[in-house]
Amino acid sequence: MSFRIPWAKPMFTDRERRHVIEALESTWISGGPYVDRLEREFTAHHGAPYGIAVSNGTTALQVALLALGVGPGDEVIVPGYCFVAPGNMVIACGAQPVFVDIEADTWSVDVDAVATAITPRTRAIIAVHNYGNVCDLTALRHVCDRAGVALVEDVAESAFSKRDGQFAGTVGDLGCFSFQATKTITTGEGGFVLTPRQDLYDKMRTIRDHGMRRGKRYWHDEVGFNFRLTNLQAALGCAQLEVLDQIIAERGRVWRGYQSQLGGVAGVALQHFQPGVEPVMWAVALRLDERQFGARDGVIDKLAAAGIETRPGFYPFHVMPLYQRYGARPLAVAEEVGARVISVPTFPALTDEEIADVCTHLRELAT
Ligand SMILES: Cc1ncc(COP(=O)(O)O)c(C=O)c1O
Repeated sequence: MSFRIPWAKPMFTDRERRHVIEALESTWISGGPYVDRLEREFTAHHGAPYGIAVSNGTTALQVALLALGVGPGDEVIVPGYCFVAPGNMVIACGAQPVFVDIEADTWSVDVDAVATAITPRTRAIIAVHNYGNVCDLTALRHVCDRAGVALVEDVAESAFSKRDGQFAGTVGDLGCFSFQATKTITTGEGGFVLTPRQDLYDKMRTIRDHGMRRGKRYWHDEVGFNFRLTNLQAALGCAQLEVLDQIIAERGRVWRGYQSQLGGVAGVALQHFQPGVEPVMWAVALRLDERQFGARDGVIDKLAAAGIETRPGFYPFHVMPLYQRYGARPLAVAEEVGARVISVPTFPALTDEEIADVCTHLRELAT
C-alpha cells in the first residue's frame, strides 16, 4: 500500500549519488576506502576513541555482546518495551534475557527496575534509547559500575541525541547504531559500534571478519562471522554525514511542529524528555487515551484510509509466546505503552503542511 504521507523517507542530495558512483567506479564494492572514512568520521564526530562499521544494527548488538563474552549461563537485562533486536541478540548468544519495566512518561528503561534485576549472573545491561530519547545514562552507569557489569547502549533510534551534553552511545562500554533505511542517517542497511575500550574494539574487528587473526590471512583464532559493511553502503553514509546538520535541523522542525499542534490536545501524551536531553527524533511518538480515541489500531486504520502511514508501538516482549518461553513475565507499564503508542510520519522532507494535515486528521478522530 502506498501512502500520500509515508511514515519515513531518507533524505538524499546529489552527494549520495556522487559518492556511490565513485565507489562503484573504483571497483571497491566490498571493503574499501569509504568504510575507513565512515569509521573515522562517525567515531570522531562522537569524540569516541574507537568505532567499527558493521552490516546492520542487529549485528552491531551481536558483535558487542560477543566481544563482552556474553554466552550460556549469563543474564542480560533488556527493557520490556523496545524493538525486538536486543532481546533476540541476547538469545542468539545463548544467554538469558531478563526483561524489566520502563518509565510511564519517557518509555526509557526504569533504572530502579534494572538495579533490582541484577544477580550474580548478570553480565550486561542493554539500555535502549527509544524513538530519539536518551535513558538516564548517569544513573545506569552508576548501577553498572557498582555491580561490575557492562553497559551496552542501543542507539539505533537515537543517533546524535545527547543527554547532559554527551552523545548517546558514548557513555556505555559499547554504543550500537543502525543505519537502516528509516534511521536518522542511512546506508540502506548498516550499523556501527562505538567503544572507549581498545580490547573490545580489537575483539569486534576479529569477530566481524570470521575470527581471522590480523596480519595472518586465513588463520582463525575463534569462531566469527561476516558482519562487514560494504564500500557502496559506506559511500552513502559518508554523504549523509556531510549533510548531517541539515538532517538534524529538519527533524527538529518536524518535532516542534507536532509538539506545537498536538501538545495541548486532550487524550494525546507526547513522549516525555527529561531536562538535559537534546533529542534527534527518529520517530515522533504519542500515547493515545482510549477514552478520546478508542483503540489505537483503529486510529492507525483511519489514518491509513486518509493516506497517512503511522506505526503502532512495539509489542512488549511478555505478550509474545516466543519470549514467554524465555522467561518474559508481565510488565504493567510496558503493556500499557505498547497498547497505546502510535508513531507519526517523521522525516526531513516532511512539509509543515503535511504535519498540519496529520495533526488535523488525528484531532478529528478524538471524541
Ligand atoms: C532499538 C533498535 N535496535 C536495533 C535495531 C536493529 O537495527 P537493524 O534494523 O539495522 O538491524 C533497531 C531497528 O531497526 C532498533 O529500533
